[in-house]
Amino acid sequence: MTVLEVLQATTAYFKKRNIENARLNAEHLLAHVLGRKRIELYLEFERELTETELAPLRDLVKRRSEGEPLQHLLGTVEFCGLTFLCDRRAMVPRPETEQLVELVESKIENPKSRIVDVGTGSGVIALSLGAKFPEANILGVDVSNEALALAEQNAAKLNLGSRVQFIKSRLLENVDGEFDLIVANLPYISIRDRHTLSREVLHDPEIAVFAGERGDELVHELIDQAPTRLRPDGMLALEIGLGQSEALFSTLAEKNYRDICSKNDYNGLIRFLFARYG
Ligand SMILES: C[S@@+](CC[C@H](N)C(=O)[O-])C[C@H]1O[C@@H](n2cnc3c(N)ncnc32)[C@H](O)[C@@H]1O
Repeated sequence: MTVLEVLQATTAYFKKRNIENARLNAEHLLAHVLGRKRIELYLEFERELTETELAPLRDLVKRRSEGEPLQHLLGTVEFCGLTFLCDRRAMVPRPETEQLVELVESKIENPKSRIVDVGTGSGVIALSLGAKFPEANILGVDVSNEALALAEQNAAKLNLGSRVQFIKSRLLENVDGEFDLIVANLPYISIRDRHTLSREVLHDPEIAVFAGERGDELVHELIDQAPTRLRPDGMLALEIGLGQSEALFSTLAEKNYRDICSKNDYNGLIRFLFARYG
């Protein structure tokens, strides 16, 4: 089969298996197997593939059709223009979180800010901010040893190991000092909604997805803790779940935060909250 025929057959197979963006998935996997950039496939559509080239593709196509996330199969994910290692140890970073980072970047006034990323997972938020603000002092925290190991590997890969530190902490419990910015994409899905999730999401670690019965429990807890760790005028920036903004907005107001505002994601849904304290 030629490159083009393999792409067409794989795309058709993925469509039958209800894989979103079937053609894109097929291109990514074939490019990965051939060690090419995706765009380079277009230059060799007519080339016949050998059995040695096709064999590893079959396994990946099967796993993808069974719901294994594309990023796990590739071993990497693009986030804010950087390439991060991605595997079962932490949640696959989502495009909404790139938007959180962009919003946060636009709000950082002091390039030497002290920043903590709570629930850092693979480290994408902490490390993207580290790459953007070379003078900032950045800490990523997580309860998961596995996620922290992946974050450390990502820091080394991006040559940010000396500027972004990672420690184990339940929310801010092991964190000392005061920060200009506390940013968090904590788990915010209710355990009652498990049955509504896609097969792909169920490959994320449970601890990265589910918070409790309501879903917003950990975010509420962080809102409670953050004032002890924010410098005067410091900012809390949160990614939140659908339908959670009203209750969290009220809690921020009750806890004397100010300049509270929400932002929508690209689908027009409220997914981010920002507030200052002190
Ligand atoms: C939704 S994932 C986000 C990961 C990463 N920040 C991202 O945006 O891709 C939430 C992360 O919070 C961590 N986590 C869960 N409970 C936590 C807690 N009580 N304290 C700190 N981290 C927690 C999980 O291990 C997971 O890595």
